[in-house]
Amino acid sequence: MAIKTAPASFVQKTSEWVRKPKRIDANMPDYAKACKNFKWKNVEKEFDWSRTKKVNIVHEMIDRHAAGIGKNRVALYFWDPTPSALYPKGRDEKYTFMDLKKESSRFGGVLKKYKIKKQDRVAVFLPRTPELYISILGLHRIGAIPVPLFEAFMEAAIEDRLSDSEAAAIVTTKSLLKRVPLGKLPHLKHIFILAEGEASQANDETSLNIQMHDYHQEMEQASTQLEPIWMTVNDGLVIHYTSGSTGKSKGVLHRQYAMVGHYQTSKWVLDLRQDDVYWCTADPGWVTGTSYGIYGPWTLGISSVVLGGRFQPERWYQAIEKYQVSVWYSAPTAFRMLMSHGEASTKKYSFKSLRHICSVGEPLNPEALRWVRKVTGVAPHETWWMTETGMQIICNYRSGDFKIGATGKPFPGTYASVVDDAGKELPPNTLGHLVVRTGWPSMMKEIWKNKPKFDEYFRIKGWYLSGDTAYKDKDGFIWFAGREDDVIKTAGERVGPFEVESALVQHPAVAEAGVIGKPDKLRGHIIKAFISLRSGFGASDNLKKEISEFVRKNLAAHAAPREIEFCERVPKTRSGKIMRRVLRAWDQGLPVGDISTMEE
Ligand code: WTA
Repeated sequence: MAIKTAPASFVQKTSEWVRKPKRIDANMPDYAKACKNFKWKNVEKEFDWSRTKKVNIVHEMIDRHAAGIGKNRVALYFWDPTPSALYPKGRDEKYTFMDLKKESSRFGGVLKKYKIKKQDRVAVFLPRTPELYISILGLHRIGAIPVPLFEAFMEAAIEDRLSDSEAAAIVTTKSLLKRVPLGKLPHLKHIFILAEGEASQANDETSLNIQMHDYHQEMEQASTQLEPIWMTVNDGLVIHYTSGSTGKSKGVLHRQYAMVGHYQTSKWVLDLRQDDVYWCTADPGWVTGTSYGIYGPWTLGISSVVLGGRFQPERWYQAIEKYQVSVWYSAPTAFRMLMSHGEASTKKYSFKSLRHICSVGEPLNPEALRWVRKVTGVAPHETWWMTETGMQIICNYRSGDFKIGATGKPFPGTYASVVDDAGKELPPNTLGHLVVRTGWPSMMKEIWKNKPKFDEYFRIKGWYLSGDTAYKDKDGFIWFAGREDDVIKTAGERVGPFEVESALVQHPAVAEAGVIGKPDKLRGHIIKAFISLRSGFGASDNLKKEISEFVRKNLAAHAAPREIEFCERVPKTRSGKIMRRVLRAWDQGLPVGDISTMEE
């Protein structure tokens, strides 16, 4: 990339600060001091495995707490007031650490019974329910690798992820199972199926040699005691599929050792302590929902809230009040949606319990920050990280002053910076690649079965290349500027244009498709598709709707284009690569720049 000075609009001339009292009661009271003395080796001592050499995250999250403080402490509060066939009054449940030990033992036993082995991949395709969390914990207990999948995924997305991970089993519901293309998944041997009212039809074997098991029936018969399988810190923990700018989504594999990073950042960034009630609003289909919805808070023994059902502003406010949430981790899009719902409804609820708020997924715009601060009395703090980094890397901290709009400073024990193409660090206010010095604890272990992709992240020696651009200011704050590639962040979710384009061209009317992110006030970006039609098809608004619906049904609702523009031809290079840069210029009505590589 061409290195340039950050545009004046980025460099905040009169920065607005969020000031903190000098003596603040925070787990990390002094950032500079914490950086100076920091050693990850010392964090390892917080885990039983540092003495026993027996590693399994489920022991550190659940069993060791169940044996002490957490016997009667609530680990999981679950609330979903939506009535369903199985739960006519909705669900309002609590699970102590001891309950989760028992339930995850049961599920571990069920998995063992069907010969699911250590490091086998098992997809978890469930709505946000206690069973989702119990399944993931059960998988950890037997050392298997969960592949959490968003409930919103449709057939094409499911097929890609199950076949790439060669998942041996899937845990899902009867209605979601309809989207699993059973005939196309040769590695899939077992389906654990949750009934949703009437009994599920667990037949022993289908014609495909896949066994179906009724989750609840199996759980009833299973023992509540099962010792975890012991592993090493390098064994696999979890795979999250995430999008890049080219190709299908990639499986980011993390290792057990990542817990060291989850633990310490949850302590110092989320500032979690024993008496907190913590609410991470992310689904475990996204890395935030595992690293900070499961691993971080539970390795610390903290009570967590999980809300089922769809996003509803007032229900969110109710949840904060109902559980007296003290630490809240959410995303800019959510804050903006709450904001657009209006301030009046916030007045009906009390947010007095909140003492700390963090935000992740995309830049937190100053307007949203100020609104949340006004309504709750607490300013949200930025945290920047990625599926690949596994843990928070650049953050604003509870104890320190920070500048509104700045992404923050590197977590103690990590080093992030802004460099040129050769890996040389750049002077202040110069835009460059946002990089992290390799070797932090939860750095991804591999890209599943794709070494060349993995190596691309490390092509500048000593650095992990994030794919983001940023600059550093003279005070050491890093400011996120944008993506270098074509990855789209829509409502905080990462969408690869290639996946959407591949879905689009399956539609009979679509000859070619090019997909970009178009800036949007509420969602950060929306997905916009440029489409050239096959002969015989005429452009119309109805066709746009039909095409968008087609992607929604085949891939996922959040990946469906919200805007479609028909064009004569989709601009490509002579080698056939879609020129999304040109599409972005078209969209904004800007000059297209150099098009010498464009095909005739
Ligand atoms: C973006 C997992 C600005 C960024 C957590 C990154 C952010 C991508 C922030 C990772 C932030 C995340 N400010 N941008 N605080 N946090 N991003 O893997 O572009 O779904 O590279 O996130 O999100 O997306 P992922």
